[in-house]
Amino acid sequence: MNVRILDLTRQYEIIKEKVEKAVCEQMRTGAYIGGKAVTDFEEKFAAYTGAKYAIAVNSGTDALVIAMKALGIGKGDEVITTPFTFFATAETIAMVGATPVFVDVDENTYNMDPSKIEEKITEKTKAILPVHIFGQPVNFDEIKAVASKHDLLVIEDACQAVGSAIGDKMIGSLGDAACFSFFPTKNLGGFGDGGMITTNDEKTATVCRAFREHGGGQNGAKARFYLDGVKDELADAATVDGLYNPYKYYNYLIAYNSRLDAIQARVLDIKLDYLDGFNARRAEIAAFYEKELGVIDKVKTPQVMEGVKPVWHQYAIRVKEKNELGEFLAKKNIGSAAFYPVPLHLQKAFEYLGYKEGDLPVAEQITKETVCLPIFPELTQDELDYIVQGIKEFFD
Ligand SMILES: Cc1ncc(COP(=O)(O)O)c(C=O)c1O
Repeated sequence: MNVRILDLTRQYEIIKEKVEKAVCEQMRTGAYIGGKAVTDFEEKFAAYTGAKYAIAVNSGTDALVIAMKALGIGKGDEVITTPFTFFATAETIAMVGATPVFVDVDENTYNMDPSKIEEKITEKTKAILPVHIFGQPVNFDEIKAVASKHDLLVIEDACQAVGSAIGDKMIGSLGDAACFSFFPTKNLGGFGDGGMITTNDEKTATVCRAFREHGGGQNGAKARFYLDGVKDELADAATVDGLYNPYKYYNYLIAYNSRLDAIQARVLDIKLDYLDGFNARRAEIAAFYEKELGVIDKVKTPQVMEGVKPVWHQYAIRVKEKNELGEFLAKKNIGSAAFYPVPLHLQKAFEYLGYKEGDLPVAEQITKETVCLPIFPELTQDELDYIVQGIKEFFD
């Protein structure tokens, strides 16, 4: 048997008919970037997450950059985040000119430890950027309480957490903004790059829309008013009639080109209908792993915080013999991955921040021990049995 860590071709077989029809239809329309396909998907995604607004962009990375820019985070600001995440989380903080400040994580959930945030707050702190790592929501209430006490923004990195919830609140509806990734391997993955920002604030949504498209047009004009208080001179111009758009080629901010392709929007729109079913299957697989592996002394299985619904983007066990287990499984043709081998505060790119080994001991320990097992929804029971048997064999 050969079980890959992820096999996207199986999911393609399930959605193939609908997707191929929609993509061909879209190609025939001649509308390839933005347009109705994108606005339809934005509306559907907003409704799904319970957020008032959803703004589609080109990637999760861009979603983070644009959300932070829209919320006024930049040079001189500090943003508190986790070191146990994908590089883009802190990279984007640095990209907008701010300084990432890392707090250690909780050893059971691998998420930012809210009790360690307050000691990192300085007069420069502008925001907290928690990550719902591996699809498990953070302790949002505690994070929000610290943020409110110190008047800080909360921007969620929800790139791995689409469909997850805290109580009856979906991730995406809670913070000042939340950022999602549609990278193909994500729970809701496109056929290329893609991302989304959700927010409940009209101003933030408008400024994000302006930033994703060269700061131009009506959104650009509105954004300049929101950001700088400068009145929109074209507001009284003749109404847009399709032939003459008074805003066209008028730009108001230095911004980005980060739009979602119409074809991606069509694919994601279809896949969103399947998401809850796929996530439920991931939860079943996680429960099976917990039952089978939770009883092995040398394996520490991931723990779910009370009251949250995770979406199991990854299933990461902790073992002392990380490399040996990975190699053993590879010999048995069982795929595994080591997310994440280096905590961000020790990444070479962040050397300038001056962190050293020992500064964030929990995250450092976790990076030495995590082995991620296959958890995509289309795995068969035979394959799951084979994976579990392989792990048991290793520890025997
Ligand atoms: C936690 C996290 N943040 C940010 C990103 C960046 O998303 P993207 O790859 O779509 O730019 C990813 C995904 O790769 C991620 O997992």
